[in-house]
Amino acid sequence: MRQEDARVNEEDLIGPRGGYVKSYGCQMNAYDSSRIAGLLEGAGYSAREDAGDAEVIVLNTCHIREKASDKVFSELGQIRRLKDERAARGQRTIVGVAGCVAQAEGAEILRREAAVDFVVGPQSYHRLPEALRNADAGERTLLVNFETEEKFQDLKRRPAFSPTRISAFVTVQEGCDKFCSFCVVPYTRGAEISRAAHDIVAEAEELARNGTRDISLLGQNVNAYLWNGPDREWTLAGLFERLSQIPGLRRLRYTTSHPCDMRDDLIVAHRELPKVMPYLHLPVQSGSDTILQAMNRKHTARDYIAMIERVRAARPDIAISSDFIVGFPGETEADFQSTLRLVREVGFASAFSFKYSPRPGTPSADWSEHVPEEIKKRRLQALQELLEAQRQSFNAACIGRKLDVLFEKSGRHPGQIVGRTPYMQSVQVDAPESLIGQNREVLIERLGSNSLFGRMSDQPEGA
Ligand code: SAH
Ligand code: SF4
Ligand code: F3S
Repeated sequence: MRQEDARVNEEDLIGPRGGYVKSYGCQMNAYDSSRIAGLLEGAGYSAREDAGDAEVIVLNTCHIREKASDKVFSELGQIRRLKDERAARGQRTIVGVAGCVAQAEGAEILRREAAVDFVVGPQSYHRLPEALRNADAGERTLLVNFETEEKFQDLKRRPAFSPTRISAFVTVQEGCDKFCSFCVVPYTRGAEISRAAHDIVAEAEELARNGTRDISLLGQNVNAYLWNGPDREWTLAGLFERLSQIPGLRRLRYTTSHPCDMRDDLIVAHRELPKVMPYLHLPVQSGSDTILQAMNRKHTARDYIAMIERVRAARPDIAISSDFIVGFPGETEADFQSTLRLVREVGFASAFSFKYSPRPGTPSADWSEHVPEEIKKRRLQALQELLEAQRQSFNAACIGRKLDVLFEKSGRHPGQIVGRTPYMQSVQVDAPESLIGQNREVLIERLGSNSLFGRMSDQPEGA
C-alpha cells in the first residue's frame, strides 16, 4: 500500500506537466487563451481540462464590467486553496493572471494575492516563457507593457484558434482609439493597431488547409482595420476580397464594428462578395443623442439608423445585431424611451444589453447623476423583453424558408448534427456526421428556445 502511494507521488513529480487556461470575456480573449495554451504547450505544459491537474494555471480575465473583474478575485481565492492543497502533497503550482484585469490592476493583483506568480497583460503574451522561468526560480513577474507589434510577430508562430475546426477566429486588429467614456478597452488593449495583411492571409490559408470553412475576423474595432502594405493600402473590405479567393473557405464574418468606421467599400463587400455573411454586429449603445454625446460615441441615433438603411440597401436580408447600455449617468426616462424607439425602428435579429457599470479610470465613472440600481434593472428588463421579441420574430420568419446551413459539430442526440445559417442561427438537423464541414440547403421547420430545427430540403417529410 505504502509502496503504491510512493509510486503515484513520484509520477506526479516527474510525469508530464499540465497547463490549464480559463478564459473570460470577449472572443479576442478566447483567441488569446488558445495562444496562451499553445505557449504553455511549447514550454512543456500540455493542456488539461481541470485546474486541479495542472502545474500552471492561467486566468485570462475581462475588465469590461464590475461583475467580470470581481469574478477574478473570487476565482483566485479558490485557486489559492487549490495551490495550498497541492503544495501539501508536494506538488508545485504556478499561477498566472492574464487579460484585461491583469493590464488594469496588475500590481494590485500581485499585492493582494500571494498565490499569483505572474501577471501578464494582453500585449505581452509572447513573454510568457520568461514569466514561467522566473516562477520556476521563485520570482514573481509583472508584464504590462504595450508590445502589440511583437505580439503580432509571435502570433505567426502559433497555431490558430478553431473552436470547432470548421469555424475559427483570426485576430486582424487590436486596441481602440475611440475612448467611449464608459469603456476600459482603450486602456487595457492600447491603441488601434492592424496586423499585416499577408500574415492574416497566411493564417487563413493554413486554417482552410486544415478543414476550416468559416472564419471570423476579430478586432476591438475590426472595421477600422487599415494596413499600409508595400503594394497598397488594405482595408477590411480588401481583406475580404483576398480571403474570398482562398479555396475551401466558404464563410467570412467580422466582429466588432464601430458605426463611424463603416466604410463604403465594406458595405459594397456585403453586396458583392458572397462569402461575406449577411450578418452585422454594430453596437449602438443608446438611442438618445444626449447620451450618445456623453458617451463620446461620435454618432447620433439618426446616423446609426441611416447607416443601417445603407447596409440594408446593399444586402436586404442582412441580420443586424447590437450592444446596448442602460442607466448611463444622466440617462432620463425620455432618453431610455429614445433607445426603445431606435430598437423598434431598426429591428434587431439579436443583441446584447447591459446595465451601466462604472469602471475605474474611465471618465464617466466619476460623473454625478448615477442612475439608481432599481431603475437600471427595470430599464434593462424592458429593453431585453423588446429585443427578445425581435429575436423571436426574426427566427420565426425563417420557418418554411430553405437556408444554407454549414454543419459544424454533432448534436445533443445521436443522429443529429448542428450547423449555422448565414444569419448565425444554430440549426439542428437529423443527418449523418459525415456532413460536418459541408453546407446543405435546410428547410427550417420549427423554433427551439435557442436554436432552429430543420430537415435537409431533399429529404421527404417524416424521413
Ligand atoms: N468594441 C466594441 C465593444 C466593446 S465591449 C464596441 O465598440 O462596441 C462590448 C460591450 O460591452 C460594449 O459594446 C458595451 O455595450 C458594453 N460595455 C462596455 N463598457 C461597459 C460598461 N462600463 N458598463 C456596461 N457595459 C459596458
Ligand atoms: Fe470601448 Fe468604445 Fe472602443 Fe468599443 S469603441 S472598445 S465601446 S471605447
Ligand atoms: Fe473584456 Fe478585455 Fe475583451 S475587458 S471584453 S476581455 S477586450
